[in-house]
Amino acid sequence: VIDISKLYGQTGMFTYDPGFTSTASCESQITYIDGDEGVLLHRGYPIEQLAEHGDFLETCYLLLYGELPTAAQKADFDYRVTRHTMVHEQMARFFQGFRRDAHPMAVMVASVGAMSAFYHDSTDISDPQQRMIASMRMIAKMPTLAAMAYKYTIGQPFVYPLNSLDYTSNFLRMCFAVPAEDYKVNPVLSRAMDRIFTLHADHEQNASTSTVRLAGSSGANPFACIAAGVACLWGPAHGGANEAALKMLEEIGSVDNIPKYIAKAKDKNDPFRLMGFGHRVYKNYDPRAKIMQKTTHEVLAELGVKDDPLLDVAMELERIALHDEYFVEKKLYPNIDFYSGITLKAMGFPTSMFTVLFALARTVGWIAQWKEMIEDPSQRIGRPRQLYTGSPKRDYTPIGRR
Ligand code: ACO
Repeated sequence: VIDISKLYGQTGMFTYDPGFTSTASCESQITYIDGDEGVLLHRGYPIEQLAEHGDFLETCYLLLYGELPTAAQKADFDYRVTRHTMVHEQMARFFQGFRRDAHPMAVMVASVGAMSAFYHDSTDISDPQQRMIASMRMIAKMPTLAAMAYKYTIGQPFVYPLNSLDYTSNFLRMCFAVPAEDYKVNPVLSRAMDRIFTLHADHEQNASTSTVRLAGSSGANPFACIAAGVACLWGPAHGGANEAALKMLEEIGSVDNIPKYIAKAKDKNDPFRLMGFGHRVYKNYDPRAKIMQKTTHEVLAELGVKDDPLLDVAMELERIALHDEYFVEKKLYPNIDFYSGITLKAMGFPTSMFTVLFALARTVGWIAQWKEMIEDPSQRIGRPRQLYTGSPKRDYTPIGRR
C-alpha cells in the first residue's frame, strides 16, 4: 500500500501490485494451489489422482459441477458433449479465408471469437440453461476447431468428428486421419493425450483465466471471453512456453552445450531464460511436471523412440538446474511445459500446435471460472486502478507554436 497523495491528481490510498503478485481478484471454489508445497487440487481432489484414475471429461464435469459424477451422470455428460462436437458448416468456409501459413493459434483466436456469430442463441448470459449450453458447446467444439486449424495449415481436408469414439480419440483422429488411409487411434497415445488435457484443465487465476474473467465481468458473451483467453494464452511467458521450451531444447542440441545455456540464463545482461523453468506460483516442483515426465517416457516407449537426443538434453538440463545455486536459490523448477513439448512432438504434432492443445484443455477451466463469476451475486465489472505518473494538467499549444 503506498501513499499516492504526492502524485498528480490522486487522493486516498490503494494497493499498487504490478503483476498482481499478492492481490486476489476474486473468490473461487474451483482450484487450490500451494506453490511452496507443489500441491494442485481441483475441487479438493489432487491432480495426481485425477490424472491417474479418471479421464479428462470427468475432470471437466468436476470443474463445472463441483462434484465427481456418478456413472450415470458421467455417461450422460459424455453423451451431451459428444452431441455437440460438430461445428456449423459455415465455419468450415470461414476457415478458408485464412492464409495457409497462418499460425494455428491465430486461427484459433479468430474462430473461437467467431463462435458468437454462429451460436448467438447461447449468448444470453442471463439464462442459466443457455450458460450451460454455451459451456458444453465450447468444451465439445474446441477439439473440432483445433483439428480444423491444424488440417487447414497443413493443407489437408477436414476430418469430421466420429462420435462413437471417446473425446480424445476423436480429436486424435480428426488431426491425423487422412481420407486415403486407414487410421486407428493408438489407445496408449490417446490415454497420454487425455492425461495431458487433464493436467492443463485449470490453474486458478493465471493470466488467461484472469483475462476471461475480466472480459466476462463486462457481460461479454462466453465465446468472446474464451477468445480473449486464447489470445492471452498465446504469449511465450504463458501457454506459448511449451513451444518455446522445445525450440530451446532443439537449439541447445546436445548435452555438451548445456553449460553455455545455463550461463546465459544466469547472466543478468542476457535476456535469455531457460524456457519451461520457473513459475509465478510454484516455488517447488510443479506436480503436473512430474506426471508429464512419466507420460513422456510412456509415449516414447510406445513409439519405440530410443535415445531421443531432445530427451537426453532435457534430462541433463533438469539435473543440472536442480543442483545449480542460481536455480535453487530462485526456486526455479521445471514446469509442465518443460516435458509436454517432447511428448507432443513424439505424438506427431508440430510445435505450432502445442499452445492450441493447451487452449483446448484449458477451455473447461476458463468456462468453469467464467460461470462461477457470472453466478456470483457480488460480481462487479473488473476495473483496475492505476498510478498516474504522467504530466500534470497543461494547456494545448497550437501546432505552429510547438
Ligand atoms: N531462467 C532464468 N532465470 C529465471 C527464469 C528462467 N526460466 N525464470 C525466472 N528467472 C529469474 C528472473 O531473472 C528473476 O531474477 P532476479 O530476481 O535476479 O531479477 C527471478 O528469477 C524471478 O523471476 P520473475 O520473472 O520475477 O518471476 P515471475 O514470477 O514474474 O515469472 C515466469 C514467472 C514468467 C514463468 C518466469 O519464470 C519465466 O519467464 N519462465 C520461462 C517461461 C516459462 O516457462 N513459462 C511457463 C510458465 S507455466 C505456464 O504458463 C503453464
